[in-house]
Amino acid sequence: MAHTTYSAIAASLIGAACLFLAPAAQALDVEAAKALAKQNNCLKCHAIDKEKDGPAYHKVAEKYKGKANAEARLIEHITSGEKAKFADGHEEEHKIVKTSPPKDMEQIKNLVQWILAQ
Ligand code: HEC
Repeated sequence: MAHTTYSAIAASLIGAACLFLAPAAQALDVEAAKALAKQNNCLKCHAIDKEKDGPAYHKVAEKYKGKANAEARLIEHITSGEKAKFADGHEEEHKIVKTSPPKDMEQIKNLVQWILAQ
C-alpha cells in the first residue's frame, strides 16, 4: 500500500514538472526570429502589417489561425523552394531560409512561430 502511494505521488510530481517545462521549452524567442528574418532578407519582401512583394505576416497569421498544420505548412514553404506567386503575376522559387548551423529546425520553427503570432 505504501508503495502504491509513493508511486502515485512520484507520477503526479513528474506530471507537474512536465506541465511546467513544456511551455518554457517552446517559448518564442522574438529577437532571434527577427534577426533570422533580417539576415535572410525576408523583410525585403515581407512586413508585419503591410503588403510588399509578399503578404504581410499579420495576414499570413490570420490565414493560418486555428489550422493544425500551420506550422508544418510554413516550414515546408520556407525550406523547399516551392513556387511563389508575386503580385504582378510572375512566379519564382520562394527564398529558402538559411540558418547557422544549416537547417537548424529549432531556429526555423521559432521563425515560423513568430510569423504565426503576428
Ligand atoms: C523576393 C521576395 C521574397 C523574399 C525574399 C521572401 N519572400 Fe516570403 N513570400 C514572397 C511571396 C511573393 C509570397 C506569396 C507566395 C504565394 O502566395 O504564392 C511569399 C509568401 C510567404 C509566406 C506565406 C506562405 C503561405 O502559405 O501563405 C511566408 C510565411 C513567407 N513568405 C515567409 C518568408 C520568410 C520567412 C522569408 C525569409 C526566409 C521570406 N518569406 C522571404 C516573397 C518573398
